[in-house]
Amino acid sequence: MSSPIIIGNWKMNGLTQEAKHIVSTLLTYATNHHNFAKTVVCPPFTQLQLVKEMIESSPFGLGAQDCHFEDKGAHTGDISPAMLQDIGVKYVVLGHSERRKDHQESDQLVLKKTIAAQNKGLLPVVCIGETKQERETNQQEKIVEAQLKGSLPQNFNGLVAYEPIWAIGTGLTANNDQISEMIQFIRKKLVAQYGENGKKISILYGGSVKPGNVRDIYATPELGGVLVGGVSIVPDDFIKLIDIAQ
Ligand code: G3P
Repeated sequence: MSSPIIIGNWKMNGLTQEAKHIVSTLLTYATNHHNFAKTVVCPPFTQLQLVKEMIESSPFGLGAQDCHFEDKGAHTGDISPAMLQDIGVKYVVLGHSERRKDHQESDQLVLKKTIAAQNKGLLPVVCIGETKQERETNQQEKIVEAQLKGSLPQNFNGLVAYEPIWAIGTGLTANNDQISEMIQFIRKKLVAQYGENGKKISILYGGSVKPGNVRDIYATPELGGVLVGGVSIVPDDFIKLIDIAQ
C-alpha cells in the first residue's frame, strides 16, 4: 500500500497560542524528517490564516472543517469554498457526523457542498458512518451505502472517510475486521458508482485513531489513510502517527 494520508481534524479546538505550539512542533519534526506520509492539518477557521503562513514552505497540507455551497451572499457566519481557496486551503472535511448531527446536515446538503468545493479546486473529504444503534442492528452497510449515494456527486475527486460514529471520541476503535469489511464494502460501492475511477478514490478511517492502534489500522487492505480528531491536537502523539506510517 502506498503511504497513507494523515488528516488532523482539530474540531472546535485551538486558540492562537495552542495553534502555534501544535504547528511549530510539527515543523520541527519536518526539519529533521523527510519524505514522511502526506499530513494535513485542519484547524478551526479562525486559525487558518496563521497556520497557512506557518506551514507555507513545509510539506504539510491545509484543510478546513466545512464550507458553504455558495461562493458568497447572505449566509451569515458561513465560509465559502472561494474564501478557502483564496487563502490556500486545499482540503475540506464535509459531512462530518458532528455537523450532520449538530447542524442537521443531510446527504443532499453534503452533496451540494462537495460539488461547490470541487468547483473551486478543493479536495472534499466526505465523512460517512453509522451510529452505535445502526451497528448493533447490523444496518451499517445500508447506512453507508445510502450516504455514499446521497452525498457524492457524479464526478467525485475527493476522499471518503469512514468514521463509525460510535468510535468517534469514545476511545472505542473499530476492530480490524470491522474496518476491513467496511472499507472493502465502500470500495465495491465506489466502483459500482464510478467504474475504474472508483478504485482510485482514497478511503480513510476515523474513530479513536491513536499511536497504540494505528499500526494495525494502516495495515488494512485498501486503506488510504486516517482522519484523526483528539490526537491531532496532541502534537507529540500526532507525530507518532506520522512516524508509524513510514
Ligand atoms: O474527524 C475525525 C474525528 O471524527 C475522529 O475523532 O477523536 O475519535 O480521533 P477521534
